[in-house]
Amino acid sequence: MLIKKLSKQEIGEVFEISQEQFDAKGWQFELFEEELGKPDHYAFVGKVGKETVCFLFFMFTYGIKGEEYNILNLATKSNCTNKGFATEMLNFLADFAKKNKVLNLWLEVRQSNQTAIDLYKTFGFEIDFIRKRYYSDGENALIMSFSV
Ligand SMILES: CC(C)(COP(=O)(O)OP(=O)(O)OC[C@H]1O[C@@H](n2cnc3c(N)ncnc32)[C@H](O)[C@@H]1OP(=O)(O)O)[C@@H](O)C(=O)NCCC(=O)NCCS
Repeated sequence: MLIKKLSKQEIGEVFEISQEQFDAKGWQFELFEEELGKPDHYAFVGKVGKETVCFLFFMFTYGIKGEEYNILNLATKSNCTNKGFATEMLNFLADFAKKNKVLNLWLEVRQSNQTAIDLYKTFGFEIDFIRKRYYSDGENALIMSFSV
């Protein structure tokens, strides 16, 4: 998989992946567009040939542990899962962080999203705490972090 910056032309494909993976819980199309223009926000896609198979959005923040990247959105096209694509994206992010001397990664994940929690745990993320009723439908979020 080749990892590159998201271009405007690829937002449609990214939105389709989001729709199939998150349904109504995913971002609106406009939010994907807005992310491209925000300072300190980053958007990358994974390509196999011309096909977009995975996407990753993250932002730079100053947190309790200093400079951090916060993963905002990550998904793999549903017919391309369990091939290691999301793990490749996380490895890419860890390398990107190392290069930029950002030593901590963190994210929020729904407590029921066992597939994603397993992915992050396998990668080396640890659960820091639970943010009760974080999501608008009342579900708890797990806050997970990884030291680069
Ligand atoms: C969570 C998600 C991003 C994982 O993407 P993915 O590309 O399937 O992830 P990977 O292939 O890197 O890893 C998934 C599992 O497949 C396994 N795997 C990797 N390569 C494999 C291979 N060649 N053969 C079999 N299994 C493999 C990994 O070990 C991992 O197992 P684990 O979860 O038990 O650790 C994807 O399921 C998704 O888009 N879910 C919906 C959106 C979502 O929940 N996003 C996260 C929001 S916080």
